[in-house]
Amino acid sequence: MKITVLTLFPDMYHDFLHTSIIGRAIERGLVEMECVQIRDFATDNYRHVDDRPFGGGKGQVMKCQPILDALDSVKTEGSHTIMMSPLGTTFDQKKARQYSEMDHLIILCGHYEGIDARVNKHMDEMISIGDYVLTGGEIASMVVMDAVIRLLKGSITEGSADDESYENGLLEYPQYTQPADYKGDRVPDILLSGHHAKIEEYRIEQSLLITHERRPDLFEKHVFTPQEEKVLKKLKKEGKIQ
Ligand code: ADE
Repeated sequence: MKITVLTLFPDMYHDFLHTSIIGRAIERGLVEMECVQIRDFATDNYRHVDDRPFGGGKGQVMKCQPILDALDSVKTEGSHTIMMSPLGTTFDQKKARQYSEMDHLIILCGHYEGIDARVNKHMDEMISIGDYVLTGGEIASMVVMDAVIRLLKGSITEGSADDESYENGLLEYPQYTQPADYKGDRVPDILLSGHHAKIEEYRIEQSLLITHERRPDLFEKHVFTPQEEKVLKKLKKEGKIQ
């Protein structure tokens, strides 16, 4: 797939695109990255990309012309365009999966007080990464890119994303590694037993308990598998879940 970012701050992406799993995915050709400097599309001598808001108010608003010209320069028939904004729909794992199956994702990052609202109708979606306001869309776009790129085939070990939090609607069970005993803090015996069926049941139990405690909203809307139903029944009988 290809991801194009429209931004005033392309330098912010340097380390992100050259580090760890994301860096490797790009090296392996799983994803092609392109950063487009919106300022290159400004038409005046001072390369202005922002101006004062009509109607008054504090701060500057990003002008539509440089953004829309930048967009036109990269958009093709198969492109999906998203704008990062605290006013958008909340990003989640389902959206990450959808985006990971696309040929070309274009991400517009705003800065200053906002973007001229006439840009909105040129975008397919407006996406927020959470209920807080950042200084710009760049970090938010990296969150989206990270979640998408790691899902591309060959990016991380095959199957290792399947059991994770949010993939099946529940939070992931706790993981442990060596040593089995750290200053008296021992890994649960069941994980050292080699008994695969019991380990699986233990992990489902933990997933259910953790999700129930930390994310009752996810627990509420989860569609339980027959195996999860069985474990849930046991937890209710033991009084661990009401
Ligand atoms: N830009 C500023 N705040 C943002 C947020 N929460 N999500 C996406 N883009 C943003």
